[in-house]
Amino acid sequence: MIKFIAVDELLAIRNEVLREGKLTPDECIFPSDSLPGVFHLGFYVGDELASIASFHPQSYGEFTGTGYQLRGMATVEAYRGKGFGNQLLNFAIVYLRGQKANYLWCNARKKAIPFYMNMGFEAISAEFDVPGIGPHYVLYVKIQ
Ligand SMILES: CC(C)(COP(=O)(O)OP(=O)(O)OC[C@H]1O[C@@H](n2cnc3c(N)ncnc32)[C@H](O)[C@@H]1OP(=O)(O)O)[C@@H](O)C(=O)NCCC(=O)NCCS
Repeated sequence: MIKFIAVDELLAIRNEVLREGKLTPDECIFPSDSLPGVFHLGFYVGDELASIASFHPQSYGEFTGTGYQLRGMATVEAYRGKGFGNQLLNFAIVYLRGQKANYLWCNARKKAIPFYMNMGFEAISAEFDVPGIGPHYVLYVKIQ
């Protein structure tokens, strides 16, 4: 089941999956996590949180209209490859369409590119390095 969740609920998974458990929960908060318009989604298996993603109103480059940045997309290892991440993002895209958003973009890890490409994202940057994390691309998907 997909739910809108508070940022506090997802920090443990952000840390475990995206920061190798090296940070404190507070250090996993993005400064923009609590800005107006930001929302966080969780995919639950029973009462266990399996997959998370955050959506920040944020334009990118020359694109016109309302843009959102996808941040902190992560599925707990035991639940990967079951389509939960895909369902979470599809839910967000339908919701954002209802909110009149025009596009979604993200800084994606190279390893995760096939996951995003499956959902219609395309690369709009050259490869760049995020120190300590590795190679990334900016990906974009049009919403409407
Ligand atoms: C990238 C990530 C978020 C994907 O989450 P996920 O819940 O495993 O995603 P899905 O299960 O929807 O899709 C993953 C793969 O499983 C496959 N899959 C989807 N449904 C499936 C099913 N029912 N049965 C088997 N495989 C399935 C998909 O084809 C997809 O393959 P791909 O890697 O070629 O795209 C997850 O791997 C993760 O957290 N990785 C580590 C952190 C990370 O890199 N985050 C992204 C930062 S940019």
